Amino acid sequence: MSIDIDRSAFITSLGGAAAVAAMSHEARADALEDFSIHALDEAVDQAQAAGRTEQYPTAAEVAAHDEGRAYRRGVGNLFASPGPTKRLPPMPAKPTLADFFNLRFRPANHVLQSATRAMKTGMTEEVILACLLHDTVQALIKVDHGWWGAQLFEPYVPEKTSFAIRYHQALRFYPDEAVGYEYPELYRHLFGSDYTPEPYIEATYQMVRKHKWYMEPRLVTVNDLYAFDPSAVVTIEPFTDIIGRHFKQPKEGLGFDNSPVAHMWRSIAFPDRPL
Ligand SMILES: [Fe+2]
Ligand SMILES: [Fe+2]
Repeated sequence: MSIDIDRSAFITSLGGAAAVAAMSHEARADALEDFSIHALDEAVDQAQAAGRTEQYPTAAEVAAHDEGRAYRRGVGNLFASPGPTKRLPPMPAKPTLADFFNLRFRPANHVLQSATRAMKTGMTEEVILACLLHDTVQALIKVDHGWWGAQLFEPYVPEKTSFAIRYHQALRFYPDEAVGYEYPELYRHLFGSDYTPEPYIEATYQMVRKHKWYMEPRLVTVNDLYAFDPSAVVTIEPFTDIIGRHFKQPKEGLGFDNSPVAHMWRSIAFPDRPL
């Protein structure tokens, strides 16, 4: 599977460069998440070159945009992507993790690039696998995706990998200079410039900070970058061996093994089912 980032198609899909420049912070943030990051950065650069200075919304301004939306911000990409839905390709009878990547998580640029970076920088296989999987549950649901994602993968991956997936979400809000991790620019758009994480996030961070496995989720955040090389071609293939060694693929196929999370895989496989 190859990934093509078509910049002009992306900007066109948002109504052209002028329309992108005129978008609200919150709409831009949504686009940042849902589409190619680079195309949007370019449009923002154009806007800045035209004399507009970048300003972040406050948390209250972000919350004000929750009124009147067609769907809630926390819903998964498969269920509420902007634009008309497209018919999904059918899943094989016994789907594997690679099938989900190719047919439901795609284009999955962000996680593939994170895992590619983790591999290049010599991370452990558990961390590389965590990077590969860390945001894929956002096809199903975005809110608290660390916890949802860990649950989705827990029966099939090493404990360190699910630990890393579960806690990367909370650690994203807390810089760690020792490893070069800074607070993400994107979050000033997504949450507001004066946002402070809820107490449960703070408590989770404090717990993980002292945990012997702190570096597992921390290394996911280190590889969780949005500044990607748009010319990089990333595919699932380089990770086939790591998946083979560490992902316990059920012989019945994901969704049909009667595991406690099988229904979550089926929901991703069949998002058009009315019940
Ligand atoms: Fe994440
Ligand atoms: Fe991520």
